Amino acid sequence: MVSAAQQACRKRVRYGSTLALTKFRRDRSMFRDHRGPSALGGALKLAIRRRGLRDGYLLSVHSAGVQGLVQAACTGAPRLILAEFRNNSDCDSQMRLNDMTDEVTDLPTGHPPIVFDRDSGVDVTTYSDVEEMLRSRSFGMEGTYEDSLEFVGGTLIAIDGRAHLNRRKAMARMLSPKMPWGAEGKAFDKIFSHYLRMTKEEAEPGATEVRFDLFDFAARVYWRLIAGMIGIDQIETEEQIERFRTVSTRLVMGIVLDYVPREHRDRVLQEARDAVTEIRQEIYLPSFQRRLELVREADGDAEMKSALPGDLITSMIAVQDDLDNIDDTAIFREMTELLAASINNPVIFAVYGLDDVLSWLEMHPEDREHLQNREFLNRCIAETLRLHRVTRQYLVRLAKEDAGLESGREISRGEWVKAWVGKADRDATVFGDEADKYNPYRVPLVEKVPGFGLAFGGGSHMCLGRPILLWEQGDNDAQGLLIKMLRLQLESGMRPDPDGVQKVERTMEGGERYVRYDVVMPL
Ligand code: HEM
Repeated sequence: MVSAAQQACRKRVRYGSTLALTKFRRDRSMFRDHRGPSALGGALKLAIRRRGLRDGYLLSVHSAGVQGLVQAACTGAPRLILAEFRNNSDCDSQMRLNDMTDEVTDLPTGHPPIVFDRDSGVDVTTYSDVEEMLRSRSFGMEGTYEDSLEFVGGTLIAIDGRAHLNRRKAMARMLSPKMPWGAEGKAFDKIFSHYLRMTKEEAEPGATEVRFDLFDFAARVYWRLIAGMIGIDQIETEEQIERFRTVSTRLVMGIVLDYVPREHRDRVLQEARDAVTEIRQEIYLPSFQRRLELVREADGDAEMKSALPGDLITSMIAVQDDLDNIDDTAIFREMTELLAASINNPVIFAVYGLDDVLSWLEMHPEDREHLQNREFLNRCIAETLRLHRVTRQYLVRLAKEDAGLESGREISRGEWVKAWVGKADRDATVFGDEADKYNPYRVPLVEKVPGFGLAFGGGSHMCLGRPILLWEQGDNDAQGLLIKMLRLQLESGMRPDPDGVQKVERTMEGGERYVRYDVVMPL
């Protein structure tokens, strides 16, 4: 006879859970969450029976009925685990668990290993391998952000398949060229002028030039712009924008927890959690409420609906079926994810874009006459994007099934893949013998390869921001953000300050990037 509790347990294991078993190479502080749903007991038993759970393995159970990730350490024999979780489970005796395990027949579906171990994984480095892998459905993002699920679980960067596609569609509206921050919009120009004026006002009286760190300047421009794109209202004064920036930066650290040195993780995690509370209450919720009202008012009126603001929060409210029951955690997390995705890169590329083009113009002064020409500027930025990978050096995917690439590389189900975008983008078979050099006139040797290579990734998770960053349609004035930034920097005469600091730092895994870039600008 199978009891009702056993039935419930078994059902959850079969249909509601994802079981993952991974070699345990990390510190044991990972095993922090011992909230055991009934699924846990059954999943443990499955692991014992099917996979030979033993010392040094980590078991993770995601259950549809449980918020977050439940992790259990197997630090000794199976008996020890069962004892540890016994009181947290509906399946309350070891005997009963044993009985039940024998009757469970299905292995739950899902991704196998969940811990990203930077020393492991398959490296793919050629352009064709990286591109093919990113496009292939055999590889996914699900499972690659396990340490940060409480911040980004269910967002674009943590899901695959149809759910991911639908989410991208919901967000597509905000990327239209018609939006204030889009290619035809004027928000960027206005914000740039605002900070240019402020910077000039900071010059010494009587000075003919002003000196400043371009990083700080670009960050201020982008934080203000992205706040508008997300739909945060009360960011008007410099103090407000600075506070938003400080607290958001702490929150975003929660997403990259996996890369924070172990000794700092607890502190960073706590700061990220505090930041969630602060941003949610004080910044996000008032904006959300205001937008919810706008969407309610427009409900059923097509004209009013199409006139709604195009920011992220509004766009995501507008696609909800039931305005009275919105899972606004999903919207809040998508905001977090967007903050992480959308600011660092453009700020650093504001520095590299200028640095690269000024060096080129020294050798090719004749090209100065093209500096108002969108096509030329697009080519310049494409080369900058191709040559500098300024965040983590590789993109990460998990193999969902055994897969082979055309080159003959074999990748097994459950293996991590590191796609070295920077290396792929210097692949001489695609970009020619001088692939390491900056040349805006470069034409890739392979058809359909864009000048910027894989700088925006590829396949279904390709950078969502691409249409607002680089724009090729319409007339010369319709420009992506990266082009507007470069054009306005050049117009205002910014150049590296010979008496200032231009400091490059090596990043993890061999990358390098500027961390300070002092410029001088005429008044
Ligand atoms: C120079 C600027 C930027 C670069 C080089 C860049 C690069 C990338 C890359 C390489 C990915 C793919 C990550 C992966 O496959 O693992 C990505 C994803 C993403 N980017 Fe960007 N990005 C930039 C700016 C932006 C901006 C301004 C936005 C704002 C809309 C944005 C939004 C996103 C989002 C939402 C994703 C996740 C897409 C998904 O998973 O479906 N990015 N970006």
